[in-house]
Amino acid sequence: MVDVHKSFGDAHIIRGVSLELRQGERHAVIGPNGAGKSTLFHLVSGQFAPSSGQIFLGDRPIHGLQAREINRLGLARSFQITNIFPGLTVFENLRFGVMRRFGLQYNFWRPVSRLREVTRETEHLLEQIRLAKHSNNLAGEMSYSEQRSLEIGMTLASDPKVLLLDEPMAGMSREETEYTIGLIRDLTKERSLMLVEHDMDVVFSISDRISVLVYGQIVATGTPDEIRNNAQVQEAYLGAEVKA
Ligand SMILES: Nc1ncnc2c1ncn2[C@@H]1O[C@H](COP(=O)(O)OP(=O)(O)O)[C@@H](O)[C@H]1O
Ligand SMILES: [Mg+2]
Repeated sequence: MVDVHKSFGDAHIIRGVSLELRQGERHAVIGPNGAGKSTLFHLVSGQFAPSSGQIFLGDRPIHGLQAREINRLGLARSFQITNIFPGLTVFENLRFGVMRRFGLQYNFWRPVSRLREVTRETEHLLEQIRLAKHSNNLAGEMSYSEQRSLEIGMTLASDPKVLLLDEPMAGMSREETEYTIGLIRDLTKERSLMLVEHDMDVVFSISDRISVLVYGQIVATGTPDEIRNNAQVQEAYLGAEVKA
């Protein structure tokens, strides 16, 4: 994205952000509460249109496109809140996501072969997010972290090249966080990831690069080591937290 701005009325929230997500990299955006991290994600995924500036997916401009179109072009995001159907089983949730990718309507007369393809894809996703043994459980009855895994699976159902995860570890125990780090590593082997996460251990262990957003501006971008050793970043945001 190039020189992206976003204002809500008089409030200038994103103030000239240029940021490159390289192919295949895991890139975290960190910064204090209210810095504009979620807003930045909303701009990339098309929930909001930028006030000015350009955003590209590959070579293709996507600023101003509908979220649905951007998703079809290969970008998917999760939300800070869990976004699944609690009354459906895990399998049904994922199948719904897969069917949406294939553009199928709920229709009892569709060809059986396509149905098989949907089932196969759904099973593959179930394995990927390590929930195969919960296939027939109601989504709403699983643990919180399993629901978050399912949500990540729903995001993957559209088979995106670029994945945006907004605080996927929020509310998780240490153990669940460790598990989810492994899951995210697996799932992003052939994808690019943009991540917002408060847990600095997670950010520093998972990211190839990190950008620091403060009051709507990127104050630094670099490898975890570069960010850790950046005096300006320590002062502006990280404090003593990552000095060790
Ligand atoms: N739809 C909106 N309308 C007006 N202000 C908003 C809207 N969305 C976010 N903001 C404001 O933008 C600022 C950044 O919010 P946000 O992007 O959620 O920050 P972060 O995710 O970094 O904590 C906050 O001051 C918030 O109040
Ligand atoms: Mg946020």
